[in-house]
Amino acid sequence: MEEDSSRPYSFKVGNHTLIRGDCLNVLRKMPESSVDVVVTSPPYNLGIAYNSYKDQKAETEYLDWLVSICIEIKRVIKKDGAFFLNIAGSSSNPWLPFELMVRLRKIFYLQNHIEWVKSISIGTNSHGHFKPVVSNRFLHRNHENLFHLTKTGNVKINRLGVGVPYKDKSNIIRRSHQHDLRCRGDVWFVPYDTIRKKAEKFNHPGTFPVTLPQMCLKLHGIPNPLVVDPFMGTGTTLLATHLEGGRAIGIDIDRNYVKIAKERIKTLFSSDEHSSKS
Ligand SMILES: C[S@@+](CC[C@H](N)C(=O)[O-])C[C@H]1O[C@@H](n2cnc3c(N)ncnc32)[C@H](O)[C@@H]1O
Repeated sequence: MEEDSSRPYSFKVGNHTLIRGDCLNVLRKMPESSVDVVVTSPPYNLGIAYNSYKDQKAETEYLDWLVSICIEIKRVIKKDGAFFLNIAGSSSNPWLPFELMVRLRKIFYLQNHIEWVKSISIGTNSHGHFKPVVSNRFLHRNHENLFHLTKTGNVKINRLGVGVPYKDKSNIIRRSHQHDLRCRGDVWFVPYDTIRKKAEKFNHPGTFPVTLPQMCLKLHGIPNPLVVDPFMGTGTTLLATHLEGGRAIGIDIDRNYVKIAKERIKTLFSSDEHSSKS
């Protein structure tokens, strides 16, 4: 019998749960104050060619929709939980993330605004990758926003969880630091791996690198967190959660992406098994 493609379903891979469904409906059924961290990247409403989701709503409809999801996210995260929201505009629609943030101001505290830098040139050296913008008026867009939203604005973070070693080691003794680590600050250079084919990005048009959600979880710093990604895509947040020793729930509207996420997570379990045998 043909499976109803609109019917929600869920299954487990190890201790992670994957759900094919509309995240708003799924979040509404989740218990309040039950989740440690949400890390997600919603569709940006830029007409990106997803498999089934149409990434082109009227702007007000899009913002209302995302705000209603964010209200549910606030309900499900714990008082000391965190919501890491990755979103970017485009050269022709640069205001979008800020329009959203102005609306979210009534709902969340913006505890940190992190710039995710995908590519940077230092002097004459270039690092990382970006999609070129062909234009005589716009620069290439090499960064995205990563908003760290909380319920109180007062949630403790583990700054050294994503810290960097001191350049000038004399700082360690002079300032009586316990470790050779300082706060990284709010600009994170997290490049994509070099890829030459779409298949290497799992045939999905908008993934983030595993390191990005991993850094969010390290910064939040709670051991064994319960993590939710309402827009799971290929399951990158679930992979990061697994690597950080947590339990994840991922939701996506598209059955193909859920399938891809499942395959990606399964490979982690086989590599865990392999490393425990060797
Ligand atoms: C920017 S992508 C997320 C990519 C993900 N971070 C990754 O690394 O693979 C956004 C995803 O949201 C999904 N989506 C769109 N509407 C949705 C909805 N109502 N509920 C759940 N997922 C949805 C799309 O299918 C798409 O995979």
